[in-house]
Amino acid sequence: MSQRLTINQGTKPIYDIVYENDFNKLAEELEKFDIANKKLCVITDSRVKGFYADEICELLKDKCKKILVFDFPDGERSKNLDTVKNIYEFLIQNKFERKDMLLALGGGVVGDTTGFVAATYLRGVDFVQIPTSLLAQVDSSVGGKTGVDFDQYKNMVGAFYMPKLVYMNLSTLKTLDDRQYYSGMAEVMKYGLIKSASFYEWLIENMYEIHERNLETLEEMVYKSCTFKKLIVDKDPTEKGERALLNFGHTIGHAVEKYKNFELMHGECVALGCVAAAYMSWKRDLIAMDDYYEIRDMFVPFNLPISIENIDPEEILRLTASDKKMEGDQIKFILLKKVGKAYIDTSVTKDEILAGINEIYFTEEDWDA
Ligand SMILES: NC(=O)c1ccc[n+]([C@@H]2O[C@H](COP(=O)([O-])OP(=O)(O)OC[C@H]3O[C@@H](n4cnc5c(N)ncnc54)[C@H](O)[C@@H]3O)[C@@H](O)[C@H]2O)c1
Ligand SMILES: [Zn+2]
Repeated sequence: MSQRLTINQGTKPIYDIVYENDFNKLAEELEKFDIANKKLCVITDSRVKGFYADEICELLKDKCKKILVFDFPDGERSKNLDTVKNIYEFLIQNKFERKDMLLALGGGVVGDTTGFVAATYLRGVDFVQIPTSLLAQVDSSVGGKTGVDFDQYKNMVGAFYMPKLVYMNLSTLKTLDDRQYYSGMAEVMKYGLIKSASFYEWLIENMYEIHERNLETLEEMVYKSCTFKKLIVDKDPTEKGERALLNFGHTIGHAVEKYKNFELMHGECVALGCVAAAYMSWKRDLIAMDDYYEIRDMFVPFNLPISIENIDPEEILRLTASDKKMEGDQIKFILLKKVGKAYIDTSVTKDEILAGINEIYFTEEDWDA
């Protein structure tokens, strides 16, 4: 336990991520930022508040000038400018100043929203991420992207803004719903597929411990996932090049997510998108048939879907073209050269994408087969 990872920009260290099994070191970590002279605002959602806010306030109340909690209803529906406005009002009413600090306690919705408030309130105040969902620990709390949705557009308004610290208490993953947990696993498997065959094998070998949410296994899994994201983000902090690799499985995944009106979990859609992209990689002879079937079938034991009913493949194709990751008219598609090595391809045709979508489309004929 107590591993650390430093996130850099170029060669300059920006912030640390610490990995713990509880919140006992939180005060010590925050004291490095002189919290004795600061007011702290814990920003969280209605669900996470019930599990962890009291404990955190108890641990910090004697270490800082004042600690307050602001919560909003949980779920993506709160990730918008109304919530941002409510938080601004709360901070103004409580006389939060430039030197005070926000603590984002929760999943990606809390992290993205709080980060955006921190980036903009009084032209920027310090904030710390305390991610509690698997997705937030392996993905959204690393890399400095913050923002909210606007009308039906996801992450339409935002800023790149770095936290002072990311404090991960891995035991918080124990209270996460199964479906949320396995949805986060899709991003973890994605790292293996795009960056490391040995990590991918490790996930398969440790499947039992991952299901059990064994703390040592979780720490290794989350830590390694963050190192992969760090490797990519350090090189490309503002998403000009290599960061696009993180989009593996997301072009078709996002389209399915939109098509199904966000009724499926993000990770479930990512798993489907990974299967489609792996299939397209096989059809180009980049990976072998056996690799494709292994990649596809390996999502199943992690409770993730590999096919989907009741879709219109042509409509999903149309939705992939409206995905943000476009370069002019040409879609930047992420394919695999092998397990553990992804690349950006700008020559993928509509027919290839459609074939990928048809591969994950479960029809009545499949029942009969
Ligand atoms: N900034 C980035 O780089 C980045 C990257 C990926 C995703 N995201 C964003 O992240 C968001 C999704 O994040 P998410 O999946 O964490 O969703 P979320 O924040 O809505 O959390 C999912 C649910 O789990 C609950 N929860 C969280 N931690 C819990 C815990 N320890 N115990 C019990 N319940 C808990 C939450 O209350 C919520 O109901 C999306 O808005 C997405 O756009 C951002
Ligand atoms: Zn994702």
